[in-house]
Amino acid sequence: MPQERWSAVDSYIGENLVPADPVLEAALRASADAGLPPISVSPSQGKLLHLLARAQGARTILEIGTLGGYSAIWLARALPPEGRLITLEAEPRHAEVARANLARAGLGDVAEVRVGPAQDTLPKLHAAGDGPFDLIFIDADKPGYPDYLPWSVRLSRPGSMIIADNVVRDGAVADSASTDANVQGVRRFIEMLAAEPRVSATAIQTVGSKGYDGFTLALVLA
Ligand SMILES: C[S@@+](CC[C@H](N)C(=O)[O-])C[C@H]1O[C@@H](n2cnc3c(N)ncnc32)[C@H](O)[C@@H]1O
Repeated sequence: MPQERWSAVDSYIGENLVPADPVLEAALRASADAGLPPISVSPSQGKLLHLLARAQGARTILEIGTLGGYSAIWLARALPPEGRLITLEAEPRHAEVARANLARAGLGDVAEVRVGPAQDTLPKLHAAGDGPFDLIFIDADKPGYPDYLPWSVRLSRPGSMIIADNVVRDGAVADSASTDANVQGVRRFIEMLAAEPRVSATAIQTVGSKGYDGFTLALVLA
């Protein structure tokens, strides 16, 4: 089915269930104006994250991969007033844009952007005693996903939810012979999820304005 059709359905869903939001639209505009790539989650995906965080009763959220803070705004809006979101971003320029977007959204006191490769910031978070986090959203470099899973489990509690985006990659995830480092990263991540006794996980394929992709959802059991 063509991309045009998927985008039309996403627009229909948006018009009905995810009404235009000036703050979120301003964040996307500011990100585009700053030259950030248009690779944030879609509005319907952002709302899914928001609803999952609310259903989870999340008070603490960790995001790996901030970009301009679009998904961070959706997630932070699900938090109670005393809640806290930490989002990790490797690119200082992206982090700067995200901080401005979060401040404009009135979330400057709730959401904190930490700059540096997540391979460095995750161990620091753990060493500092941050967490456990009620919900963790993994959305950074795909070759890094296998590094992020053990840290995410360490930074969780029984009942935490770990969500990872972009794991289907136009279906290439099913190709064991793929030489694409992104595909191999998500394949290894999914195999690690399967072998990790402390989580129960599934993966869902998605289509929409962002093409054909999907996400994993894992519940931390112990
Ligand atoms: C897909 S974008 C995140 C989109 C964002 N979650 C949203 O939906 O609005 C991925 C981000 O991860 C960042 N990134 C890439 N490698 C990283 C790493 N090793 N550690 C932390 N962030 C990284 C990129 O700079 C980029 O901003």
